[in-house]
Amino acid sequence: MKIVLGIESSCDETAVALVREDGVILSQALATQQAEHAPFGGVVPEIAARAHLANIDRLYTQAMSEAKLELSQVDAVAVTTGPGLIGGVIVGVMLGKALAAASGKPFISINHLEGHALTVRLTHQVQFPYFLLLISGGHCQQLVVRGVGDYVRLGGTKDDALGEAFDKCAKMLGLPYPGGPALERAARDGNSKAYDFPRPLKGTDGCDFSFSGLKTAVRLLIEKEVARAGKLTPEIIADVAASFEAAVLDVLNDRVSRALAIAQRDYPITALAVAGGVAANLAIGSSLRTLAGAHSLPLVVAPPALCTDNGVMIAWAGMERLLLGAVDDLSVAPRARWPLAELTPVSA
Ligand code: KG4
Ligand code: ZN
Repeated sequence: MKIVLGIESSCDETAVALVREDGVILSQALATQQAEHAPFGGVVPEIAARAHLANIDRLYTQAMSEAKLELSQVDAVAVTTGPGLIGGVIVGVMLGKALAAASGKPFISINHLEGHALTVRLTHQVQFPYFLLLISGGHCQQLVVRGVGDYVRLGGTKDDALGEAFDKCAKMLGLPYPGGPALERAARDGNSKAYDFPRPLKGTDGCDFSFSGLKTAVRLLIEKEVARAGKLTPEIIADVAASFEAAVLDVLNDRVSRALAIAQRDYPITALAVAGGVAANLAIGSSLRTLAGAHSLPLVVAPPALCTDNGVMIAWAGMERLLLGAVDDLSVAPRARWPLAELTPVSA
């Protein structure tokens, strides 16, 4: 059985993993930089690049020794070559190219988003074509995954990604970084009807999202409440968090339902798959489960550790490509921007 090494360094996680053809994860080593970026309330590219460089060799050694493998036993080296923070991407690409060159094994260039998109085929038996909602800190898209390298983008965000909206609202509420999980916790004690926030693009044509108007509404409301109450009380924080989450759920329901209907009209969709860090949100998960049921589809979500950035998803995307004979040469250049729709379909 084939074995692929995966390397990820496009945002704030440095990760190396080894995956076998039958989907068994042989090892995974990961270092998150959350603590380094927390004082700044967001990812600082310069700090990210340095931290990737400081950790990546150790993580590679750890992954190989946990799997008890030599590089000569690996069949290919798969690396995120974009999109992402270019300084970080370069660090992973340099290591991947060096390993491929030294071992003579094939180098496979992976689009980070394709890594997220194909993960559900490792964790569940999902057949093409399926619908994918990608909701992370950097990305927010609705896609039909027709095959490896074969993506149809139905819509995306016009401004902030959903995770980014969570992070920014959490920051305005004085909650710790990363804000998504903190905001979800705060929302549990709040009244979701306390504030009537806007539902951007709800009911309109198309499958796009927009979250900047919602973010602005939250900011104005906070300013008003601070002026009135003198400070943000735990009660106001909980109510704003719950009302924000309710607005997000409402928008997601509307936008995803519309995109799903279009996808099902045009393709024999097999599942509603969700990827990206925001998929860890329980309220969003249960609302999407209901939505999938209404469209007679199973909801497929990878476990949280495989929803957020990791090396396994890159190794698995590499495996899918290797099995189809799609390998690259060492001339591939790292890319900051690389929409999924620019990929070329790979067939057996
Ligand atoms: O996929 P990911 O780890 O990194 C990117 O590629 O962006 O996603 C991180 C994002 C952050 O914005 C974080 O706040 C959000 O996912 N997130 C959540 C939750 N857990 C993580 N947002 C809402 N609720 C959560 N429970
Ligand atoms: Zn990601």
